[in-house]
Amino acid sequence: MKNLAILGSTGSIGVNVLNVVSAHPEKYRVLALSAGRNTELLKEQIEIFKPKAVALLNESLATDLGKTLVGKDLPEIFFGTEGFSRLATMREVDTVVSAITGAAGLMPTYDGIRAGKEIALANKETMVMAGPLVLDEAKKQGVSILPIDSEHSAIQQSLQGHSKEDLKRIILTASGGPFRNMTRKEMEGVTAAQALKHPNWEMGPKITIDSATMMNKGLEVIEAKWLFDVGIDQIDVLIHPQSIVHSMVEYRDGSIISQMGIPDMMTPIAYALAYPRHIKTGLPSLDLVKAGPLSFERPDLERFKCLALALRAAAVGGSMPTVLNGANEIAVDAFLNEKIGFLDIPEVIEKTMDAHEVQPIDRIASVMDADGWARKKTIENLLTYA
Ligand SMILES: NC(=O)c1ccc[n+]([C@@H]2O[C@H](COP(=O)([O-])OP(=O)(O)OC[C@H]3O[C@@H](n4cnc5c(N)ncnc54)[C@H](OP(=O)(O)O)[C@@H]3O)[C@@H](O)[C@H]2O)c1
Repeated sequence: MKNLAILGSTGSIGVNVLNVVSAHPEKYRVLALSAGRNTELLKEQIEIFKPKAVALLNESLATDLGKTLVGKDLPEIFFGTEGFSRLATMREVDTVVSAITGAAGLMPTYDGIRAGKEIALANKETMVMAGPLVLDEAKKQGVSILPIDSEHSAIQQSLQGHSKEDLKRIILTASGGPFRNMTRKEMEGVTAAQALKHPNWEMGPKITIDSATMMNKGLEVIEAKWLFDVGIDQIDVLIHPQSIVHSMVEYRDGSIISQMGIPDMMTPIAYALAYPRHIKTGLPSLDLVKAGPLSFERPDLERFKCLALALRAAAVGGSMPTVLNGANEIAVDAFLNEKIGFLDIPEVIEKTMDAHEVQPIDRIASVMDADGWARKKTIENLLTYA
């Protein structure tokens, strides 16, 4: 029996994690759940899974939830970053599922690692912002970080039973998002509603916009660099619109090993929870005949400038990936709130990156400083778009 703290349980990943848990009640027990603002869904989850503790974004949401809960065995209620960290460090927790969106996921994940908890990681921003610090701490504590991202899960599966020495390169696949075939001119006028319609995956709003700009793939390149300890020059990105091949690994003899499956997050979530076993998910088998031809093409870094910016940040290193991430979060939020256009997203991020003096990332405090600086600078930059 594995005891889980699920951070971000009201999100797209969180709900799928709970689906896997429900399918295997003999294997997993939910000890803690966290939400941002969705108190209604959290309340339903509390009734079903009976966690010992929960946390919400702020004190007022936590107080309101406390007033509405009735009955016995009610959970303790916490709030804010400290509250999320309390859940991640609870004595009986074995595995922390890190599925909060954005930079808010970093501290609770890091605290979970410091407390020696295994991490099932969906929150890629943690690795982008603080990869080397997170990995050092995980090594020190002897804890595993098991990726939930479907691409990284595919790579992890393709590495099983092979020697790291033989690895030549990683090939990350990308769907290309809803605007894969649009010209830059056509992209100029796209709305948030259009960008939120991903062709293959059901995801939260931030990652869906990141998929449309291809920033998501850039963040994944940085995540893969740290998780699999490879150079950026060993990671290639290929557009694969069918989202059937979830990623590949090439070995020095020319062999390419890939992991395939229908595009459903239940598979990588189940693998992260049951690693190294494959447990039932209830998903139908992939019908390769119905899936039709599988195609691959190179990404266009001019139309998808966010991917180019992420590769630049990865090459520069230090605090630049943290700044890229912070600037991106602010720019995506501005786009979703109709303050800037779709093609302004990379322009806004680039301005912030150009103004940044790179610092070493040697402590969590330096990550927080770089993140804070990037957010402030990007908000300043946004004033010129008003
Ligand atoms: N969805 C996918 O298929 C997928 C695939 C790979 C990786 N990921 C990664 O997984 C993470 C979650 O993605 P998602 O698609 O599940 O996002 P989502 O549906 O938007 O859910 C995000 C979760 O985080 C909570 N949250 C948001 N902001 C918060 C804050 N400031 N403090 C505390 N909690 C906060 C939300 O709470 P409320 O809703 O209650 O406000 C929700 O529980 C992201 O890092 C994403 O990149 C997602």
